[in-house]
Amino acid sequence: MTRDIEDEIKDEKNPPPLDEDDIALLKTYGLSPYFAANKKVEKEVKELAKRINDMCGIKESDTGLAPPSQWDLVSDKQMMQEEQPLQVARCTKIISPNTEDAKYVINVKQIAKFVVGLGDKVSPTDIEEGMRVGVDRTKYQIQIPLPPKIDPSVTMMTVEEKPDVTYNDVGGCKEQIEKMREVVELPMLHPEKFVKLGIDPPKGVLCYGPPGTGKTLLARAVANRTDACFIRVIGSELVQKYVGEGARMVRELFQMARSKKACIVFFDEVDAIGGARFDDGVGGDNEVQRTMLEIVNQLDGFDARGNIKVLMATNRPDTLDPALLRPGRLDRKVEFGLPDLESRTQIFKIHTRTMNCERDIRFELLARLCPNSTGADIRSVCTEAGMYAIRARRKTVTEKDFLDAVNKVIKGYQKFSATPKYMVYN
Ligand SMILES: Nc1ncnc2c1ncn2[C@@H]1O[C@H](COP(=O)(O)OP(=O)(O)O)[C@@H](O)[C@H]1O
Ligand SMILES: [Mg+2]
Repeated sequence: MTRDIEDEIKDEKNPPPLDEDDIALLKTYGLSPYFAANKKVEKEVKELAKRINDMCGIKESDTGLAPPSQWDLVSDKQMMQEEQPLQVARCTKIISPNTEDAKYVINVKQIAKFVVGLGDKVSPTDIEEGMRVGVDRTKYQIQIPLPPKIDPSVTMMTVEEKPDVTYNDVGGCKEQIEKMREVVELPMLHPEKFVKLGIDPPKGVLCYGPPGTGKTLLARAVANRTDACFIRVIGSELVQKYVGEGARMVRELFQMARSKKACIVFFDEVDAIGGARFDDGVGGDNEVQRTMLEIVNQLDGFDARGNIKVLMATNRPDTLDPALLRPGRLDRKVEFGLPDLESRTQIFKIHTRTMNCERDIRFELLARLCPNSTGADIRSVCTEAGMYAIRARRKTVTEKDFLDAVNKVIKGYQKFSATPKYMVYN
């Protein structure tokens, strides 16, 4: 007995190395019990669907039309005539819900209000108060629940496919990643911490810094990481032709965001709309300013503990309107500086990861040769090095290629440099 304990104590001081089984077990930490099984089934389903698609070949859904020999215009026409178009109404109230004889008060625009029942194809659980519904034209029964009405161009802005950028693809920027995750992930994962302390979590983050330092890249990494809905808006998309359109789009955007469980809204290049207000005497920019004021208004309007986070990115923070930046709206300002030596080495490694390079290239040296350059510059160096290799008809990229590329990109293009304003010493 005592020997066992002694052994254990000794083991604790000097633990045996983890073997593969242990690592596999550790990797399952935090996953739900059916995770692996689910993944497997998902994969099988996907493969099966792909096999079926392959076997069917090109279908009419791919080309849009069936061959004319299969057209049946007569019966199609008849079918369309039999099926009455539905009318859009709003369900304003449910009388005695959750019972057998629940009734629904609907409001058809410009006609009247009715108390109606459900059609055969809708279940009572689908209909909620305040919902848009489709009703038939004779008995006004509810036939179909409709999604809320939101501008299609706003709906298009949701990012459905996760970008394939992860935090690993961002070189350097440790601090920035840390700050961003604190604002974005902490309040979503542990809201109780903020409630306990009695403070409101920050609502948003402004990322600023010279062009090509990875602001958009980091936002994409965030989008990849979170399970929240991610909406990406480019500032210029909100500049519209007609007065009030931009502001309306912002309103609908936040309305859509609020309807999700958790949502991140990312405004890229906000300087397009967030410029400081001024009077040019013509009133041409009023519309742009109105859009910006609507954003300010929406930032104030929602409850910070409601799960909407706003990220903004710009490379001209000095032109932004102070109203947008005041604490309580965008509390966090994260600067993206030029990468230092270590970060540059890391960025070189990231961008050459997929390249076919010679072994032991001295990335440290290359990084040293590119002072005051951004991540985008370094990426361009890597591409250019690849071009040199292609020109010399080689299959691998050598260190000499990189040195030539550095000469060309960093020295040769100095007059196009994005960074003279931001020089740092390192
Ligand atoms: N820190 C970084 N790590 C890796 N690649 C970077 C980094 N910063 C910039 N890049 C490269 O530069 C490109 C442009 O960066 P981006 O984030 O779009 O710049 P901006 O800050 O102007 O939005 C990225 O696609 C990426 O390939
Ligand atoms: Mg950008």
